[in-house]
Amino acid sequence: MSTNIGKFDDIASGTAKRVMVDGVAVAVVRIEDEVFAIADKCSHADISLSDGMVWCDSKQIECIKHGSAFSLETGKPDTLPATQPVAVYRAEIVNGDVVVSSQGDKS
Ligand code: FES
Repeated sequence: MSTNIGKFDDIASGTAKRVMVDGVAVAVVRIEDEVFAIADKCSHADISLSDGMVWCDSKQIECIKHGSAFSLETGKPDTLPATQPVAVYRAEIVNGDVVVSSQGDKS
């Protein structure tokens, strides 16, 4: 199922926006002309990844609690203490809107 979460232009590059997709919290992240969607819950503890720092060059989001950096492309943690991946979802720009698909989970 796909969910339109709003205008791509409303998300500043280098930031994350928390949205709900089929009842699941998802962090939608914009890096310049690309958009990513990753589960908005760290795998180490119940912390929103959307509150963390986006690293544009490495396409990661860093958990604000203990600093694990998760790949926005794979959901895998590239740094400790998290060791388990989080789900990533298909995110597309359709007619200027961001559409996130809860099925077709890329992880
Ligand atoms: S809660 Fe995210 S790294 Fe610990």
